[in-house]
Amino acid sequence: MEAYIIEWLNLLGRWVHMIVGIAWIGASFYFVWLDNHLQSPKVKADADQGVGGELWAVHGGGFYHAQKYTVSPPELPDTLHWFKWEAYTTWISGMFMLILIYWYSAEIYLIDPDVAALSKPVAILLGAAFLGLGWVVYDLLCKSALGKDEKKLSAALFIYVAVAAFLLCHLFSGRGAFIHFGAMLGTMMVANVFFVIMPGQRAMVAAVKAGRSPDPSQGLKAKQRSVHNTYFTLPVLFTMISNHYATTYSSTYNWLVLIAISLAGALIRVYFVQRHFGKPSTTPLWVAAALLLGVITALKPPMVGSTTTPTVAAVAGSQAELFASVQQVVQMRCASCHAAKPTQTGFSAPPQGIILESAADMVKHATAIYQQTVVSKAMPIANLTKITDKERALLARWYEAGAKQQ
Ligand code: HEC
Repeated sequence: MEAYIIEWLNLLGRWVHMIVGIAWIGASFYFVWLDNHLQSPKVKADADQGVGGELWAVHGGGFYHAQKYTVSPPELPDTLHWFKWEAYTTWISGMFMLILIYWYSAEIYLIDPDVAALSKPVAILLGAAFLGLGWVVYDLLCKSALGKDEKKLSAALFIYVAVAAFLLCHLFSGRGAFIHFGAMLGTMMVANVFFVIMPGQRAMVAAVKAGRSPDPSQGLKAKQRSVHNTYFTLPVLFTMISNHYATTYSSTYNWLVLIAISLAGALIRVYFVQRHFGKPSTTPLWVAAALLLGVITALKPPMVGSTTTPTVAAVAGSQAELFASVQQVVQMRCASCHAAKPTQTGFSAPPQGIILESAADMVKHATAIYQQTVVSKAMPIANLTKITDKERALLARWYEAGAKQQ
């Protein structure tokens, strides 16, 4: 029953997280686009009122005319829209998912004894520390002398997040490391909204209300953090889907994969932001493509048949004998989760709907079994069922010999 309820909390939490996340990133991308497409106001009276840029758009059957004031309008309108709950609810629903999946079931999803034999409380504390300290250190870097020079700050931030990626991948399961990396960047983004951007905007509004001209440095600080947020977005979104791609998180050098793909994401965003201004340089796109191609090439699995899988003495005999041994391995190491009615605690249904009970099930899923157990070694998850290298080799031999039943 508990596992069944968790399954539903998981689904509902994920659904909400996606919806509010789309609303947040949608609005955030829209405003970056808007800001970068502004043109000088056509009407002199607007310019005299302090309008620095304007933009016309047609969408959904209507014409829109947006204007941006260089500093502030002479007086505030009755209704002023703020954009903050999209960010806050994305973080809240994201934390809900992180706690529900990666902390509550840390022994399945977060801890990998082959990486670091952490106890559950230590693993959770470390995870929380990465989120909290992640923000504190980032904030200090932005406020330090480095923060005055965008180039130096970008370089320092890159080194900083790369070190975090390295550490996470040496503490947690690949999957847990990738999601904590994304959660750390996501926390930095939301904290930027909460601690820097919103207070800055509140101060600006208060100044206009009091008839003072707002301090432009507030706006500049908020702008710096918004720019960071835009470049963190693509890396964060990669980590959020990475748990479906064991190839990326389960390799030996998974930290390098994480850094390379994140950097590619940030560079792709650089290109699109530049494109808003007109003719962009395509260099960031080429570098991103080269990074992705490099990762794809480096992670290429060995050709089937080219692996010299150690001979398992016990199965030197016929195909039927080989299959019988394979079936035994799958029964022992996989079926506690991958059964119509899983016996493993925490599972109310076969994960991804994959059932590995009958001989026919195994033949049907042979490629997936090979992919998950031999190539990416993502299964058995957290190696909870303690599969041995010999058993993996046995599965490889069976697959490479045609994955036959007899
Ligand atoms: C402790 C439970 C557990 C055990 C044991 C286990 N798995 Fe899984 N398996 C999972 C979970 C959880 C997922 C879903 C992962 C995800 O959400 O991406 C999964 C997913 C899979 C998938 C689908 C992967 C995909 O992304 O399409 C395959 C194939 C698979 N397992 C094969 C195996 C094989 C083969 C074994 C035995 C060698 C095994 N599993 C043992 C829990 C388990």
